[in-house]
Amino acid sequence: MLGSSETRALMDARKPDHALEQALYCDPGVLALDLEHLFYKEWLFAVPACEIPKSGNFATLQIGAYPVIVVRGADKSIRAFHNVCRHRGQRLCAKDTGSSPKLVCPYHQWTYELDGRLLYARDMGPDFDASKYGLKPVAVQEVGGMVFVCLADNPPVFDVADKLAEYLAPSGLNDAKVAFSSTITEKANWKLVIENNRECYHCGGSHPSLCRTYSDNPAMTAMEGPDAASPDILAHWSRCEAAGLPARFTHHPDMQWRLARIPLLNNAESYTMNTKAAVTKRMGSMPFNDAGSLLFFHYPNTWNHFLGDHAIVFRVLPISETETEVTTKWLVHKDAVEGVDYDVKNLTEVWLNTNDEDRRVVEENQAGINSPAYEPGPYSKIQEEGVIQFIDWYIGKMQGALAPRPALAAE
Ligand code: FES
Ligand SMILES: [Fe+2]
Repeated sequence: MLGSSETRALMDARKPDHALEQALYCDPGVLALDLEHLFYKEWLFAVPACEIPKSGNFATLQIGAYPVIVVRGADKSIRAFHNVCRHRGQRLCAKDTGSSPKLVCPYHQWTYELDGRLLYARDMGPDFDASKYGLKPVAVQEVGGMVFVCLADNPPVFDVADKLAEYLAPSGLNDAKVAFSSTITEKANWKLVIENNRECYHCGGSHPSLCRTYSDNPAMTAMEGPDAASPDILAHWSRCEAAGLPARFTHHPDMQWRLARIPLLNNAESYTMNTKAAVTKRMGSMPFNDAGSLLFFHYPNTWNHFLGDHAIVFRVLPISETETEVTTKWLVHKDAVEGVDYDVKNLTEVWLNTNDEDRRVVEENQAGINSPAYEPGPYSKIQEEGVIQFIDWYIGKMQGALAPRPALAAE
């Protein structure tokens, strides 16, 4: 199990534009450092706000060692807490989602308000001060209908917030509902899951249903800047902007996040087998069906697609050094009626297939990397620029966080 100085040394010695050394994808010590310096420090996508629309609605997630609960209060605000009872530490809520007027511990029924205050604890005696035993808060931000949490005591500035709110506004996520949810475990390191998402070099060979609507030509999805992209993308941006849709490529200087609206193949409307919209009621104020996909990623744990007729949000959370939970939610307009305005199979088929195909490739990727014969190979600068950029972000963040190697003693 590697410590921080050995991990830092491996990172310092890496070959640029190459896959990482085996240990960085397999070693439990490296995962512990990834958790400590990324997943316990950065803003993470938790749930779409429309999944907890009413007071008392809650959702839970497990971030490394930390169980977290996100809950809508009586005042309609969204709050997040450590999902740990202040009595003897029972996990308060075991369900993924639910609704409750108060948060009641299942062990001895300590009862908390939705704002985290301890309201009731039976037989704790006259000296017991309930005000000292409120739930521990977790930082939370809702932006454009997406809820993010951060475990750090001093969270970094969530600098995507303004742009994200602007780009998501036409999608009306607060007037949406979760039509379908899927959680799968991929037997691979979380970085392999993100790497695989950041390129479409593999799409032609792996994703027959996605490739009906999503181009695997990097010129169709790669962008250099707000005015620098292929003619097809530039034309799409102009058309979207004329209709009031923010569309142009925008990103953080270190590429922790990116927003851009790209066209689908041949004016396809949605990620469906027949390329047509899956939902008859459009999202929010989306002006047309063939608005393409607003792509949004934010490292380390989310990528998303916002279409004219629906949205698909993805959450990535490490379970162990070689297991990763991937949760996908399909959002549709809240007034869209299942069986009338949309069919769940038609809505979800392409990305259920795609997720399963991606699961298989990243599991095989991990299986090969586990071999003593594995040696990091070069990324394609034509096809895998997104992977290079993710790995550069990851290494840069970790090198910044890990203590420098102690200087070698003078000889
Ligand atoms: S551990 Fe929660 S009430 Fe006892
Ligand atoms: Fe894929």
